[in-house]
Order: sequence, then structure tokens, then C-alpha cells
Amino acid sequence: MTQTELERAVGEILIEEEAIQARIGELGVEISADYTGRDLLLVGVLKGAVFFMADLMRELTVPCEIDFMAISSYGAATDSSGVVRILKDLDINVSGRDVLVVEDIIDSGLTLSYLMRNLRARKPASLEVVTLLTKPERREIDVPVRYVGFEIPNRFVIGYGLDFAERYRNLPYVAVLHSDLIPPPH
Ligand code: IMP
Ligand code: MG
Repeated sequence: MTQTELERAVGEILIEEEAIQARIGELGVEISADYTGRDLLLVGVLKGAVFFMADLMRELTVPCEIDFMAISSYGAATDSSGVVRILKDLDINVSGRDVLVVEDIIDSGLTLSYLMRNLRARKPASLEVVTLLTKPERREIDVPVRYVGFEIPNRFVIGYGLDFAERYRNLPYVAVLHSDLIPPPH
């Protein structure tokens, strides 16, 4: 079988496509049960969360809306400083809403911590987080995360929304970046 250019970036596959989809199904059931009788506002953090959010939303049986924020960290490009700038803010007013932040991955937790403080100040009725992936070993700040898809080891991963220099988001699985490609200093 010949490898595509895309596949050459892939080291070990950590989470197969089927496993991701099955876990999203379970999260959909759990979240739908928890929010019965309410309607949800899903807040996605661009760009990585788009893929997870699209699949998760289709597993929800409660009424829901989506909106997006784009943020960028100041300082070092590859390591999160926790100082964050909002590049695109929400269109929907979150005051009084049941807000569920949708993340692709939580690494140091600094970005999410800033985002949670920012959103909490807007007085939502409730504010929770769902993340597809988490790297517990890398956590620098404690952020309460209500729903977690998978815990992964401290390795740089690509696929299913996660990028390396903006590439490889379109892989349907989560894989470790191939060692031939220089990983970011992290
Ligand atoms: P944190 O502020 O350190 O938690 O940064 C989280 C952000 O860093 C994520 O939203 C991703 O954009 C990026 N990130 C962290 N780990 C990885 C990885 O293994 N692959 C791709 N992006 C990652
Ligand atoms: Mg990124």
C-alpha cells in the first residue's frame, strides 16, 4: 500500500477513528442526559475544536446552538503563556445561558483557564467544559473539566482537528507526529 503525503506525518496512531466516534457517542448520551429540559450553547475554540464539535453536536438530543471564539496566546508561539488575546469574540450573548465550552485538547490548561475567567464574567447560567483530549502530565493550572474524551500521554499529537503548523487536521484519527518532523519545543 502506498502512503499518502498526509500519512507520512503520522507516527503511532493513538486513537483510531472508530474509538473516537464511539466515545463521542457516549459523551453525547451523557451530556444530553445532564442537560435534559435545558438548551445548550456550545462554544467552540477555533480552530481545532471544529471537528469534535460537529460530531458531538449530532449526538446531542437537547436543543443546542453553536458559537465560536478565536484566541491566540501572546509570547512564545509554541508554549502557552496563559496570556491570551481574543481574535474573534462570540456573536451570541451568553448571559443566562447554559454554556458548554468545547475544546480539542487541554495541555497546560492556561488557555482554557483564561477563557473560563473571561466567560464567567459574562454571567452564564452555567459554564462547563468538554474536551476530546487531555494531557494530565502537562497541567500547570487546575481547570475543572466536566467531560473528557481521552487522557493521553505527554506527546505531540495531530489529527481530528489537531494541527502541526496548521496541517494534518483532516486525519480522521489521533496520532503522534512522526519523529522525522521536528516537534515544537514542548
Ligand atoms: P494550553 O493552554 O497549554 O492548554 O494549550 C492548549 C492548546 O495548545 C490547544 O488548544 C492546542 O491548540 C495546542 N496543543 C497542545 N497540545 C497539542 C498537541 O499535542 N497537538 C496539537 N496541538 C496541541
Ligand atoms: Mg493549535
